[in-house]
Amino acid sequence: MGNENIVLIGFMGAGKSSVGRKLSKALEYQFLDTDEMIEKRAGKTIPEIFSEDGEAAFRQMETALLLDLKKQTRCVIATGGGMPLRPENAALLKQIGMVVFLHATAETILTRLADDTQRPLLMVENKEERVATLLSERLPKYQSACHCTVETGDKSFYGLISEISELYEAYKEGKL
Ligand code: S3P
Repeated sequence: MGNENIVLIGFMGAGKSSVGRKLSKALEYQFLDTDEMIEKRAGKTIPEIFSEDGEAAFRQMETALLLDLKKQTRCVIATGGGMPLRPENAALLKQIGMVVFLHATAETILTRLADDTQRPLLMVENKEERVATLLSERLPKYQSACHCTVETGDKSFYGLISEISELYEAYKEGKL
């Protein structure tokens, strides 16, 4: 078992940060967001990192951050949507805590991110096609990197938080 942390993984727009923030309050845990931490460390925004340093440099920053997060305990950690892509990251995630895959459909993601300008990977003409391609490439990676999957659908925050809290009890008892 990893430390006493909950790590949320999943596609952009799945709700990792918003669910994570509320879950951390309910558990009285600290909330951490890897995108925010990387922006702080780099002194620039994610779109700036992608355009000035490239995606590979960003992925390197994600791995470096995960290595530091192994020291944390009693945290809910929302990760960037590409965090589990590198095989070394997938292994590190499970050492940090219980890894929950927040699953959302392409339709939900597209609705939530319709007006978004902060995701460099979605700054393309055909957003629908890009989301479909990325989702199908990534789905197996999210599934193998997690301890459990939670369907977000149209569940309330309250429903999602109680579902994840129950899973966490099972995880702490070594049942996941
Ligand atoms: C990315 C997701 C983003 C951010 C970066 C790359 C991805 O985070 O890390 O734009 O590869 O899916 P969110 O999932 O919080 O949007």
